[in-house]
Amino acid sequence: MTVLRSEVMAVRSAQDIVLVRQAVRAWSVAQGLGLVDQTKIVTAASELARNTVDYGGGGTVRLEALQEGARKGLRLTFEDQGPGIPDLALALTDGYTTGTGMGLGLSGSKRLVNEFDIWSETGKGTRVTVTRWK
Ligand SMILES: Nc1ncnc2c1ncn2[C@@H]1O[C@H](COP(=O)(O)OP(=O)(O)OP(=O)(O)O)[C@@H](O)[C@H]1O
Ligand SMILES: [Mg+2]
Repeated sequence: MTVLRSEVMAVRSAQDIVLVRQAVRAWSVAQGLGLVDQTKIVTAASELARNTVDYGGGGTVRLEALQEGARKGLRLTFEDQGPGIPDLALALTDGYTTGTGMGLGLSGSKRLVNEFDIWSETGKGTRVTVTRWK
């Protein structure tokens, strides 16, 4: 697998989330994803970015344009050094929230992408990687 292009963006504010959404849309178009797939990964990015800001105390996202043979994709890695998630299985359950949300951000994001990977350690932070292939 080849990384054609890579960029790191800050995810610290509501304005950053808008910029991330725009970048993910543009990179999806450049990778040749169809409109439905574009919207899926933009929606996942939006949810993960919101978690990074709301719970992670801010962080970063790395965008990577991927190519594997004839297949193109987009990989996003959200990372923060916040409090971490004590129980990942619980956090991934539909409707589980420690805030005022619907508790659908993580579980919904997982359903919107082809690959979903999450690492978190209490007191260290959280990293979520998602990939959508064409
Ligand atoms: N980056 C993070 N750092 C620490 N905790 C997190 C992080 N992301 C998610 N969580 C925890 O996982 C829970 C579930 O996240 P999820 O995005 O599914 O729901 P929500 O953000 O609470 O609500 P919604 O996304 O539907 O508005 C959160 O309530 C929070 O406790
Ligand atoms: Mg959320």
